[in-house]
Amino acid sequence: MMNLAPLRGTRDFFPDDMRLRNWLFGHFRDAARKFAFEEYDAPILELEELYIRKAGEEITGQLYNFEDKGGRRVTLRPEMTPSLARLILQKGGALTLPAKWFSIPQCWRYERTTRGRRREHYQWNVDIFGVPGVTAEAELLAVLVTFFRQLGLGPQDLEIRISNRKLLQSVLDSLGVPDEKFAPVCVLVDKLEKLPREAIEQDMQALGLTDTIVDRIIETLSLKSLDELDNVLSEKYEVIDELRGLFRLGEQYGIADWLSFDASIVRGLAYYTGTVFEAFDRGVNLRAICGGGRYDRLLSTFGGNDIPACGFGFGDVVIVELLKEKNRLPEFTPEIDDLVCPFSEDLRGPAMQIASRLREQGRVVDLVLEDKKIKWIFKHADRNGASRVILIAPDEWSRGEVRVKNLKTGEESNLSPDAL
Ligand code: HAM
Repeated sequence: MMNLAPLRGTRDFFPDDMRLRNWLFGHFRDAARKFAFEEYDAPILELEELYIRKAGEEITGQLYNFEDKGGRRVTLRPEMTPSLARLILQKGGALTLPAKWFSIPQCWRYERTTRGRRREHYQWNVDIFGVPGVTAEAELLAVLVTFFRQLGLGPQDLEIRISNRKLLQSVLDSLGVPDEKFAPVCVLVDKLEKLPREAIEQDMQALGLTDTIVDRIIETLSLKSLDELDNVLSEKYEVIDELRGLFRLGEQYGIADWLSFDASIVRGLAYYTGTVFEAFDRGVNLRAICGGGRYDRLLSTFGGNDIPACGFGFGDVVIVELLKEKNRLPEFTPEIDDLVCPFSEDLRGPAMQIASRLREQGRVVDLVLEDKKIKWIFKHADRNGASRVILIAPDEWSRGEVRVKNLKTGEESNLSPDAL
């Protein structure tokens, strides 16, 4: 037989898995809707040039790209933000700002698969266009906390670590590193946090980062509090006020215990320009649960006018690992309201009519499609979580009634179809 397994790093979703996925996506949607975000979508296939950013990002080396039959270089999207930017640019002046949009796209990255990293994942994206100040970031963080609370998680389970790329920018400015090197340096610094320094030394030299500069960067990234930052930085940088402002808003939103300052958060994507954040579990030590930040200058890289923007991406993999680890996943069982069953084939017509009437009333109704024994019927009802079995039997039907067994209470009765 041919190999039936899905490709490495990809998943099949059996009905059991879909119940979990729909539950998770339901919470993604609910949390975004509570904050009045609107849902959008875009094609999974995009032009490759949308992701060619030349800053040395991991993501550009992981594209599922190919030439289509028309000779165009295309790729499965590795992330949603460039597609979102494309949509925003299409709207141009017709777009009412702020635009608060969310989406749950499947994204493809040719990654080395590890715990929490796959070659496809679904990624909840929540973004705000048109707000330059940190009230936007505060809103995103509040969406995240609302979502975590919906799942029954608390600040003892995870934290959102926040920093701001302007911090690194100030340090680089003071060391004379030119502006155009900022994005590639950020990407490299993000790797510096994950790989040994020797592994990326060559790339650092190519960017003109001397040992002194790298030492200074590492020193800055190890700062643990805003006060420490205040003391170390010789000038009073606007970024400190910005960060303090964001934490103040966090307090006013009642989410302060979820938030912490962490200078080592830089993020590995080139386009971030300001606030950056990632959520991590406490204690289990999984990979980042989600990540995001401000990207005020992405639109001009596509030739459009910039609009201030920030957002986050939240995968469907690490959060489920965490919930499993903490035993917080609910039990997912199929749920049907009524199982309708004709006693014999000549009663199939009435059975179908009764099933239709119940469905019109919004009930989930399964109709037994073949001639089955009563034992099978009750086993089937039990396996599918049915609340009632409705049997269309000859004697009862001749009196205009059906036999009903309520599986929650065990009660049995004869009822007219109207009384169902
Ligand atoms: P990212 O950090 O590359 O950011 O991905 C965001 C989240 O997607 C990660 O924290 C993780 O939950 C999930 N994720 C990424 N790659 C994988 C993978 N291979 N397997 C499983 N989960 C994964 C972005 O993609 C940005 N575009 C997010 C963003 C939106 N920034 C602003 N708006």
